Amino acid sequence: MKTILVTGGSGFIGSHTCLALLDFGYNLVVLDSYINSSVIALKRVIGLSKTQKQSAQNTLHEVRGDIRDYKLLSKVFVEAIKNNAPIEAVIHFAGLKSVEESVREPLLYWNVNVEGSRNLFRVMDENNCRTIVFSSSATIYASSTDNLLTEASELKPCNPYGKTKLAVEELLRDLFENSENNWRIANLRYFNPVGAHSSGEIGESPLEKPNNLFPYICQVAIGSRKQLQIYGSDWPTPDGTGIRDYIHVMDLAEAHSAALEYLFSKQSKLLNLNIGTGKGTSVLELVKTFEKVNGCKVPYVFSARRLGDVSKTVANNQLSIRTLAWEPSRSLSDICRDGWRWQMLNPFGYSERTH
Ligand code: NAD
Ligand code: WQD
Repeated sequence: MKTILVTGGSGFIGSHTCLALLDFGYNLVVLDSYINSSVIALKRVIGLSKTQKQSAQNTLHEVRGDIRDYKLLSKVFVEAIKNNAPIEAVIHFAGLKSVEESVREPLLYWNVNVEGSRNLFRVMDENNCRTIVFSSSATIYASSTDNLLTEASELKPCNPYGKTKLAVEELLRDLFENSENNWRIANLRYFNPVGAHSSGEIGESPLEKPNNLFPYICQVAIGSRKQLQIYGSDWPTPDGTGIRDYIHVMDLAEAHSAALEYLFSKQSKLLNLNIGTGKGTSVLELVKTFEKVNGCKVPYVFSARRLGDVSKTVANNQLSIRTLAWEPSRSLSDICRDGWRWQMLNPFGYSERTH
């Protein structure tokens, strides 16, 4: 059984991916600072894992720490070697992800996302671990066009967050091209990850007011927020609202185990892959599907366009499908049903607070 280091593994996408990886049979070391997540998430992951509860506990080892901490990261690698379970690959989720905050705090974003990643890659290199799956983002592409985005589409992020993601991809390319050693790298460019595990036990738990559409819809539907503001009704789309490619978080999670398996089968590789469904959904379509599937109301008003938004972002996912032997299998209705189950069972996410 291979041991994988998962940075940021207690977060939204990380926790779902840990479950997929445990069920795939990997041994996990999860490193997280818990700056944007709860210790409860991984406890629930262990409870959900198909592996016997006891053995799942044995295969998921949690370390509280920061990816910028060189000594701690080195210790994690060295201890794994001492325990005869050397880390053979890293899935790197840890980082900050708010576009709006990145505009206010570019120094922080470059420090955590870029410096933190550089530190991690240095420790990996020193410990002969050169296989990595990196959480990149569709946000690195230039403004959308009418066409689906392919991996060869122009890269031109328009905010500091996106620029840090592109910088890490570029650093990984330099390592791949210039190192004497063989790196195996998959940059997974996520589109819009949403929904929750079908059990409703794990899901997205924003600590503050959500910036993203799907968690906002869930909070309006349950009554913690009065109404949704739809940013713009005059986009050049059929119903005038923005179009995105919403992918179920479990489909995204499974793309990580597929990417690892693919990398393990190669000597050396650099892959950039779009992880989306290839289907566009407008804001109004998402709201209507959510209401229909869950039999609830999502009151909304139209407001001005949000600064920095684009009309349409949808993946051409053919390269991922061909390369990874993976395909998203969950529908928009599944997304709405599973996301709502999580919201109903956990009205305040993982937190106890009432607001
Ligand atoms: P998240 O905030 O839920 O998870 C990130 C995790 O990293 C959290 O558990 C947080 O505590 C941890 N973390 C942050 N800084 C850290 C540090 N310095 N050291 C150690 N741990 C740290 O976010 P998510 O939605 O699960 O996103 C995971 C990754 O995917 C991020 O890199 C994000 O940029 C990327 N991504 C997310 C989306 C999205 O819409 N959610 C889209 C594209 C890419
Ligand atoms: C989706 C659509 C909004 C909220 C962001 C980041 C991106 C990536 C994913 C990390 C748009 C509309 C939204 C609301 C609305 N994250 N909307 N009312 O903007 O596609 O991508 O998250 O890498 O970097 O930019 O996602 O969910 O914020 O918006 O009308 O309250 O919903 O205008 O059309 P976005 P989103």
